[in-house]
Amino acid sequence: MPDLIAKSALEGKSLTLGGVTLAEVSVGPITSIAVLPGGAKAVAKGLKPLGLTFPFNIRPLMAGWNALFLRPGQMQADPAASAQWNRGAYLVEGLGHCGACHTPRNALGAERGGAAKFAGAMVDGWEAPALTALSAAPIPWSEDELYSYLRTGFSRFHGTAAGPMGPVVQELAVLPDADVRAMAVYLASLTPPPAADAAAKAADLAAQLEAKAAQALMPLDSMGSRLFQGACAACHSSDGPTLLGARPALALNTNVHAARPDNLIRVILDGIPSPAARDLGDMPGFRDSFDDRQVAALVRTIRSKFAPEASDWADLEATVARIRATPGSH
Ligand code: HEC
Ligand code: HEC
Repeated sequence: MPDLIAKSALEGKSLTLGGVTLAEVSVGPITSIAVLPGGAKAVAKGLKPLGLTFPFNIRPLMAGWNALFLRPGQMQADPAASAQWNRGAYLVEGLGHCGACHTPRNALGAERGGAAKFAGAMVDGWEAPALTALSAAPIPWSEDELYSYLRTGFSRFHGTAAGPMGPVVQELAVLPDADVRAMAVYLASLTPPPAADAAAKAADLAAQLEAKAAQALMPLDSMGSRLFQGACAACHSSDGPTLLGARPALALNTNVHAARPDNLIRVILDGIPSPAARDLGDMPGFRDSFDDRQVAALVRTIRSKFAPEASDWADLEATVARIRATPGSH
């Protein structure tokens, strides 16, 4: 498969996979991390799976999609930007197909452009968050944290790569550090310019957010806080012992601050059974332990304690029921 891509690139041809053309691939990369639009369930009839694993096995939903929306040819480098930035742009936009999940689509299923690029979208029942200034992350993403997240599956100021993002991090493992660093440089340029002392500022902000969460009232008699203490605090409380693996701080986690509760509910129902990297550890799921009302109460408590400035999520119980009934493939 990588050979095929390299060969097509050498010959200046675009490669078509299951009806989707992988444009923007030029000579150089020896491996493909392409992700094709559509969902895992959209595997076209009669197409042999080719022995490919996720995310290579995702097929497009619509015929004719190429002809309408694919920009033919290779990406043009931006001469005003650094070689590293251009390399990153090429990897993120071309080979990485990050937009396949992170960019919303128009009515015909093509990725939208302009300000909508990387503005966040739903994929396989998960929200692929905005990677731009629209990000809900309470601490702005920096180049170093993006690098850490893409390289290790974990950023101390954000959280872990769960759901459909886990396999992406696994695929990225074949890239050299310089390429992952270039991707981080490019992605960081999509968010507001960082402060000169971004790392120190982020650490300060993290401490403030954690302190605020620690002070937030959690009436012990409420169902949500009892469930939190019983089921989550042992691994996630900021003053608890550091157990094996990553211990994402909920006060810093994008999913707790997001406009929609979907990812948080999915993580609670199904846990994180296959971590992006083994040393992150896995998280148990609570699908069979809690009913919809309990999960809703837990989610409400987490939101008010760890994202006190965000507005409450509406219709939580119905949302939990919907998400429970439509398990994703992760
Ligand atoms: C198959 C769909 C998919 C693809 C492809 C994908 N992502 Fe993601 N991404 C997600 C999902 C879903 C999440 C949320 C994961 C979570 O909450 O743990 C995510 C999370 C992220 C985050 C963390 C955002 C935050 O605020 O927490 C970053 C950064 C990111 N992805 C970058 C990338 C890059 C770079 C690429 C291309 C190499 C990429 N993603 C490709 C689905 C995808
Ligand atoms: C046994 C320890 C353990 C328990 C109990 C636990 N978690 Fe986790 N949690 C983890 C680990 C480990 C991760 C990181 C896993 C990974 O991504 O590989 C995690 C990740 C998360 C994330 C971040 C996901 C992301 O995409 O960034 C959230 C949110 C979360 N847990 C919420 C909860 C809630 C709510 C509860 C209680 C219902 C809970 N956890 C119970 C260990 C635990």
